[in-house]
Amino acid sequence: MTGQPLLNVQGVETYYGNIRALAGIDVEVHRGEIVSLIGANGAGKSTLMMTICGSPQARAGSVIFDGQNITRLPTHEIARLRIAQSPEGRRIFPRMTVMENLQMGAGLDNLKYFKEDVEKVFAMFPRLKERQGQRGGTLSGGEQQMLSIGRALMARPKLLLLDEPSLGLAPLIVKGIFEAIKKLNKEEGLTVFLVEQNAFAALRLSDRAYVMVNGKVTMSGSGAELLANPEVRAAYLEGGRH
Ligand SMILES: Nc1ncnc2c1ncn2[C@@H]1O[C@H](COP(=O)(O)OP(=O)(O)O)[C@@H](O)[C@H]1O
Ligand SMILES: [Mg+2]
Repeated sequence: MTGQPLLNVQGVETYYGNIRALAGIDVEVHRGEIVSLIGANGAGKSTLMMTICGSPQARAGSVIFDGQNITRLPTHEIARLRIAQSPEGRRIFPRMTVMENLQMGAGLDNLKYFKEDVEKVFAMFPRLKERQGQRGGTLSGGEQQMLSIGRALMARPKLLLLDEPSLGLAPLIVKGIFEAIKKLNKEEGLTVFLVEQNAFAALRLSDRAYVMVNGKVTMSGSGAELLANPEVRAAYLEGGRH
């Protein structure tokens, strides 16, 4: 892991009104890595994802992406730099079909690659191909998650942000989705920053991970190190969601 990180979050503080949700966060994601951020509900994980995307903006510290300071850029300009996210709760367009959702993800810049990219998404998630004419809102939770990830991929991201892809899904579905993420990372070299309450699944998937408590990073290490760490095991693994 030499050279400049693809994403470098330094000393980031984010507020909602005068309540500080992020209290000085340092996180690095290098090209080709899968990095996860684990932590309990309310720790600030989604706030960090949203801060990277520019809404809300950090009140202190900096977010550097691909060598560029994006801390004060508007969200649409950050997206244009090829950071794509699958937000918490998926946020697909419920009245649009699967295919229309994918078109929305591609944006105007990528229309020339549309066919090729849709085929890739369909190869990864064959269920979406079968349901391409179906409205997003009528898909199962797992299918909506596939669509949310597929839509993000249509933007041809350099960095994919995933916020709780496993939320509310059965273990077997989670396994399938995490395998697809691993495959993308291995075969396409896609860099992934993943937020999860499902620490077990996230740590197994990740090269490195950070633990967040009350708006601060309290631990970091390789996925394997954190899986073996007694504090992590007690707080996030034993008796938790596996
Ligand atoms: N829009 C908001 N307005 C005010 N407080 C918020 C808002 N969103 C999140 N928070 C608060 O910020 C903290 C971190 O929330 P969040 O980033 O959603 O945590 P996580 O994703 O780890 O569950 C929580 O205390 C939450 O109540
Ligand atoms: Mg969250």
